[in-house]
Amino acid sequence: MITVKAPGKLYIAGEYAVVEPGHPAILIAVDQFIQVQAHLQSHFSSAWSDQSPAGELEWHHNGNQVEFSPFDRRFSYVASAIQTTEEYLRAQAVPIRNYHLKITSELDSDNGQKYGLGSSAAVTVAVVKAICKVVGYHVDLITIFKLAAIAHLSVQGNGSLGDVAASVYQGWIAYQSFDRKWLLNHLAHHTIADTVAIEWPHLKIEALNPPAELQVLIGWTGRPASTAHLVGKVANKRVDESTFYNHFLTASNECVNKMIQAFRNHDLQSIQEQIHHNRQLLVALANHTNVNIETPQLKQMCDIVNQLGGAAKSSGAGGGDCGIAIVNHQTDLKQIIARWHQFAIDKLPLRVSYNQQEESHDQPSFTS
Ligand code: PMV
Ligand code: MG
Repeated sequence: MITVKAPGKLYIAGEYAVVEPGHPAILIAVDQFIQVQAHLQSHFSSAWSDQSPAGELEWHHNGNQVEFSPFDRRFSYVASAIQTTEEYLRAQAVPIRNYHLKITSELDSDNGQKYGLGSSAAVTVAVVKAICKVVGYHVDLITIFKLAAIAHLSVQGNGSLGDVAASVYQGWIAYQSFDRKWLLNHLAHHTIADTVAIEWPHLKIEALNPPAELQVLIGWTGRPASTAHLVGKVANKRVDESTFYNHFLTASNECVNKMIQAFRNHDLQSIQEQIHHNRQLLVALANHTNVNIETPQLKQMCDIVNQLGGAAKSSGAGGGDCGIAIVNHQTDLKQIIARWHQFAIDKLPLRVSYNQQEESHDQPSFTS
C-alpha cells in the first residue's frame, strides 16, 4: 500500500491575465490535501472517492486501451489522469498492473461546501503521483506537472493550470501559463511521451521565498463561486473590450513582475503595494466586463485589512470563495479577524504547504 498527497491552492495575484499564455501569476499551496492510497490487485483496476462514495470507477486494460465500465462523469478528472499517466508509462516500457485507488479529500468544508481551493487540480495531481508510485516509476516534478496539466486540460478546457502547478511544486510560486493551443495541436500529432519530453512555449514555474515577516491570512466568504462560469463571462467580453483588455493584460504583467521582483528582494512593503495595485486592476476588469469579481463581502474584507495597515484582494476568480491578506508581524490580527466576523467572513486556519524533501528539487528554479 502506498500513499500520496496533493495540496489545494490559492491565487495571490495575476488572476484572469494568467489565463493568457505568457502572463504571470503568484500562487500558494495550502495544507489541505487530496490523499490517494493505492495498492496492486488482480483482474481489474478500480477507484473509490469519498466525493462520490456510492459507486466505484472500474477499468480494464485491453491492449493499450483503458476501458472504463461504465464511464462515470463524477470521475472525469480521475479517469483522465489514469488514461494520460498509463499512456505515458507504457511509452516508458513500464508494465501496467491492476491497482486500486482510494481517494479522500480535505478540500471541502465539513458540510460539503467548497472553499475554492482547487480540488479538481489536486485530485488530478494526486492520481498521477499515485499511479507512478504504485507501479514503482520515479517521476520528477515537471513531468508530474505536464501529465496532470494534459489530463486536467482535456476535461476542463479553459483554465491557466496555475492550480496544477501550485499543487505539484507547492510553497509560493510564480507561474507563467503555457500556450494551450500549441499543446493541443502538438498532442494531435504526437504522443503524450513526446509532448512531455519537450519544452512548452511560455511555461515558467519559479519557487518564491517570502520575506520572514510576511504573513498571509485567508478569509472565506462562505459563498461558493464557479470559476469556469466567471472565466467564461470575462472571456466573452474580452473580444468587445479589446483595447481595455490589452491594457489590463499589460498592467497585470507589470504589477505581477514587480511583485515577483519584490519577493526576490524580500521587500514586503513593495509586495503589499502591488497587492493593492492588482486589486484595483481586477476591480476595473470587473467593472468593464460586468462580472462580479470583488463582491460586497470581499470588498469589506479588503477594506478592513487596509484600514489596519495590511494589503488584501479577492483570490482566484472571485465572486465568493476566498480573499487573501498580506500583513506583517505587527498587524493586529485579532482585530482583523473580529471585524471580518461582523461580515460573516471566517479566517481559515490554513498554512502554506511545502513539498516534502524526497519530492523537492535540490534548488528551486524556473522550469519549462
Ligand atoms: O477561483 P480560482 O481559485 O479557481 O482561480 C481562478 C483563477 C483565474 O485566473 C481566474 C482562472 C485560471 O484558470 O487561472
Ligand atoms: Mg474561486
